[in-house]
Amino acid sequence: MVSLGVGRVMASLPGCAFLAWNLLLLSAAHSVRLSRQFGSAQQYGSSNPGPSYETYYFTQQVDHFGFYEDATFKQRYLVSDTYWRKPGGPILFYTGNEGDITLFCNNTGFMWDVAEEMGAMLVFAEHRYYGESMPFGDLAFSDPKHLNYLTSEQALADFAVLLRYFKATTEGAQNSPVIALGGSYGGMLAAWFRMKYPDVVVGAIASSAPIWQFEDLVPCNEYYQVVTNDFKKSGPGCSESVRNSWAAINRMAETTDGLQWLSNAFHLCCPLKSKEDVAVFKGWLSETWVSLAMVDYPYPASFLEPLPAWPIQVVCKFLKDPKSGDKDLLQDIFQAVNVYYNYTGDTPCLNTSQTASGSLGDLGWSYQACTEMVMPFCSDGVSDMFEPQSWDLQAFSDECYKQWGVRPRGSWVTTVYGGKNISSHSNIIFSNGGLDPWSAGGVKESLSDSLLAVLIPEGAHHLDLRSNNADDPKSVLLARSLEVEYMKKWIAQARTGRD
Ligand SMILES: *[C@@H]1O[C@H](CO)[C@@H](O)[C@H](O)[C@H]1NC(C)=O
Ligand SMILES: *[C@@H]1O[C@H](CO)[C@@H](O)[C@H](O)[C@H]1NC(C)=O
Ligand SMILES: *[C@@H]1O[C@H](CO)[C@@H](O)[C@H](O)[C@H]1NC(C)=O
Ligand SMILES: *[C@@H]1O[C@H](CO)[C@@H](O)[C@H](O)[C@H]1NC(C)=O
Repeated sequence: MVSLGVGRVMASLPGCAFLAWNLLLLSAAHSVRLSRQFGSAQQYGSSNPGPSYETYYFTQQVDHFGFYEDATFKQRYLVSDTYWRKPGGPILFYTGNEGDITLFCNNTGFMWDVAEEMGAMLVFAEHRYYGESMPFGDLAFSDPKHLNYLTSEQALADFAVLLRYFKATTEGAQNSPVIALGGSYGGMLAAWFRMKYPDVVVGAIASSAPIWQFEDLVPCNEYYQVVTNDFKKSGPGCSESVRNSWAAINRMAETTDGLQWLSNAFHLCCPLKSKEDVAVFKGWLSETWVSLAMVDYPYPASFLEPLPAWPIQVVCKFLKDPKSGDKDLLQDIFQAVNVYYNYTGDTPCLNTSQTASGSLGDLGWSYQACTEMVMPFCSDGVSDMFEPQSWDLQAFSDECYKQWGVRPRGSWVTTVYGGKNISSHSNIIFSNGGLDPWSAGGVKESLSDSLLAVLIPEGAHHLDLRSNNADDPKSVLLARSLEVEYMKKWIAQARTGRD
C-alpha cells in the first residue's frame, strides 16, 4: 500500500527491504495503486490488432503561470490518424494521467474501438513528470524546487497549448472538434479540461473520475464500503472473513512464534520481525482487497499477474468460514490473496513491498497527493471490513513534509475546480462503475442536461474505457453507446455553432 514516498523508510537489508509506511496515509496509498492498476494492464482486446501510432515531442514551457522560470521541456504525445476523415474529422484526446502514456494508449481500447465509426484521430498526451515528459530531466524529482511545477493546472495548460499548436500545424485539423477522454485521475483531468478550456474541447468523457474525493464533499468511509460490498456480494462469509482476519493477525503477532507462523503461512519473502513489519503486512493485505475491487472485471485480465474473470468471486471461494480459528482463517486469507499474486503458480514467495515498488509514476502521484490531490479516506470496521482508521490531515501533512518538504493544501482543488458547484459547465459525461471504490468520489447523478452521470452497476474501474469484450455486461455496452451518441452530438453542435 501505499504511500510510497510518503513516510517511506527503507530498511537496511537489500532485497529484503520492508517499506514502512504510515498507515494513516491511505490516500496516497490507494491513489498510488490506482495508477499501477491502470498502468500495468497488459491485455489488449482481441478485437483489435493492437495500437499503431506515431510518437512526437512538443516543447512546453515549464511554468505556464509565471514569467520568471523560462525553462522548457519535451512533452511526449502519440498520434494515430488511421481512421481520421480529414479535413475536419474529430480528434479524441486522451488527457494523460499519472504514468507512461503508452500504457494508457495501449489500455484505452474504447478509443481504438470507436475511432473508425467516428472517423476520428486519436491523440494521447503524456502528463508532465511522468514517462518521458520530465521538466528539468533527471533533476525533476531531486528537490521541491524542481517538483514545483507538478500540478494539474500546469498539466491542463500543457494540453491546451499542445492542442492549439497541433491543430494549427496539422493539415486538415484546423476545424476539428476535440473531445477529451480519460480514466481515473485522467478522467478528472478530462472533466477539468472541459471546464477550464471550453474553447479547446467541445466535451469530455470522464470515466471513474473521483472529482469529489476531496475535503468533506463525500464521506471518507464510502470508498472502503464499496470494496466491502463487492466482497459481501461475491460469496457468503467473504467480507466477514476479511473483517475477522485483522484481529486474528494481531493475536498471532503478539508472539515471536506467531510472527514466524504468519511469515511461513503467507509464504512471505521476508519474515515479519517487528510491529512495523506487521503494519506493513496488514496495509499490503488491505491494498490487495482494494485492488481486487478495482479490477473486478467480467473477463480474465492481466495486472501484476494474470487474473481470472470476476476475481473477487474466485477469492471468496476461499473465504467461507469467518468463524473458524485464527490459523484456519489466516490460511484461508492466504489462499485468497494468492489468487491475486500467484494465479499462474509461478510466484515463489509473496513480497509485501511488491505493490509499492518505487517507480517514478508512483513517486509523482505521491507528490501530487501531498500537495493538491489530498483525498481523505477512513474506515470504521463496522460498515466496512477494514481495520478502523480515521483520517488525520495533520499527520498526513507531517509525513508529506518529511518526504517532500511541502505541505498539502486540502481545499485548493475545491477552490480551483468548483467542488460540487459546477452546474454552470456543460458537455461532460461522468461514468462510474458500481464495483469500483473510486465511484465513492465520483459524480453519480446528472447535474444538468449536459452534465450527465452514467452508472455501470457491474463495472469496476473505468471498464467503459477498456476494449469491447464478449463478456461485457449489458450496462457497459449501454454506457459506451451513450458516450458515442453524446460525442457525436457535441461534434455536431460544434459544427453548427448551435446547441
Ligand atoms: C520485494 O519487492 C521490492 C520492491 O519491488 C524489491 O526491491 C525487493 O527486492 C523484493 N524482495 C524480494 C525478496 O523479492
Ligand atoms: C504498447 O503497445 C506497443 C505496441 O504494441 C508496445 O510496443 C509497447 O511496449 C506497449 N507499451 C507498454 C508500456 O506496454
Ligand atoms: C504459487 O503456486 C505454486 C504452484 O501452486 C506453488 O508451488 C507456490 O508455492 C505458490 N507461491 C506462493 C507464494 O504461495
Ligand atoms: C455556487 O456558486 C454560485 C455563484 O457564485 C452561488 O450563488 C451558489 O450559492 C453556489 N452554490 C453552492 C452550492 O455553493
